[in-house]
Amino acid sequence: MSTSSIFSPELATLYKENNVKGIEEYVTSCIDDNGGLQSERFVRLNPRFCKDETLNLLKKEVASVFASSTDDLVKEMKMPMLKGLDFFSIPGKFSLQKSKIYTEGRIYGQDLSSGAAVAALSIDQKCALSNEPFKALDLCCCPGVKFCAIADLIEGMRKASTIEGFSGDVVMGVDIDPQRLYVCKKIVKKYHFDSLLASGSDCKMNDCDRNVRLMLYNSDGANFSVQNRGELFFDTVAEKEELKSCKTGNNRKRMNKSARARERKRLKALEKSENLKYNQDSNQDGFFDRVLVDAECSTDGSIKHLLERMKKKNDKDVGPNEKLSTKILSSNKSGNLDELHKLQRNLIVAGFQNLRKDGVMVYSTCSLSRYQNEEIVRHLLETFTNAFIIPFQSNDVEGFDGHAFLSDWNTIRFTFGKFGGFFLAKIGKR
Ligand SMILES: C[S@@+](CC[C@H](N)C(=O)[O-])C[C@H]1O[C@@H](n2cnc3c(N)ncnc32)[C@H](O)[C@@H]1O
Repeated sequence: MSTSSIFSPELATLYKENNVKGIEEYVTSCIDDNGGLQSERFVRLNPRFCKDETLNLLKKEVASVFASSTDDLVKEMKMPMLKGLDFFSIPGKFSLQKSKIYTEGRIYGQDLSSGAAVAALSIDQKCALSNEPFKALDLCCCPGVKFCAIADLIEGMRKASTIEGFSGDVVMGVDIDPQRLYVCKKIVKKYHFDSLLASGSDCKMNDCDRNVRLMLYNSDGANFSVQNRGELFFDTVAEKEELKSCKTGNNRKRMNKSARARERKRLKALEKSENLKYNQDSNQDGFFDRVLVDAECSTDGSIKHLLERMKKKNDKDVGPNEKLSTKILSSNKSGNLDELHKLQRNLIVAGFQNLRKDGVMVYSTCSLSRYQNEEIVRHLLETFTNAFIIPFQSNDVEGFDGHAFLSDWNTIRFTFGKFGGFFLAKIGKR
């Protein structure tokens, strides 16, 4: 079967040029008559809740939907690469939207390749040895599942450390799109605050005082620096203050116009006072210990994106006779892949400039195109003599059933399929 039969010419060309085969068969086989997913999907446990408690609840929910033993239906994902992230596979037909524990914020829906991008930042015990606050940057952070996972790994690293009373760790998230930032803010609030306030879980809100700070900025990642951060859109420290001053935190009303204006004013004032602190800490080598550049891309590797488009085939959005494409390819048409490539180059350069010496940066996309992946990394290596590839090892791709493999310079490629087509490069700074 030729890939051009269901794909738009742009998408078919992209696959052909990158020698990607078998996608049409895969996409078609994934979807059932009702538009549901045939294969498995993946969830990650929110570490703010007791793991056993959440796992029991997940098994109960899955068992009640599928009326069978959950032994084969809920499986722990034990890939060495994903250690510490608590991923589980569940049936693709299990609806997260209808799940109580998902609505409560006990589990995230997240692809394994997306988890691998965060794991590749190597936020481990060694990071806890320094007495300095740990600082991470997520340059294209929305909707925010990786952003939350970075915070989770930092908190996990601190909890496992013997150094007590540590504070000052921060993750800054940047995105250019305010609409997507609203979604991200909702996600952070759901997983970091609302879920804990609403539940009778063992986790205490007080624990949050020693937690990592999450700050969201509405800014162009290509120009972002710690001295030039743009508009502070959300901050967990400000949110905690708001919650403390609010007697019935879990009954908070939706913000009206004046409350939103007050929040903006408060964030502006806060940002002004924080400016001095962060600017003082910055130096010429860059400010952040870890940087993730999960760049805007043509999303051609993402089964989720393609299936969403497939489901919309009968909508106005994608007319019934139109071929399957991704949002970016269909809205940009030909020629604009060059603009995307330029943006990706600018983002990886900005990410690298924000990285401190000896820090780790990950560049990732859910595209399978070399133009958006290897060529972007090559540009960085050619531009900065102090940039180098940190090669992944063979155990980093272990357990992914042949869907992940070491590629050029020992970067990682996930093939299109159940884990999500994805590219990952790990970069160091001398
Ligand atoms: C692939 S998505 C990121 C997904 C995110 N890392 C996650 O895991 O949820 C790319 C994001 O880049 C953002 N973006 C596009 N151009 C940008 C720019 N110049 N600066 C910052 N963000 C940008 C888009 O709005 C989009 O949210």
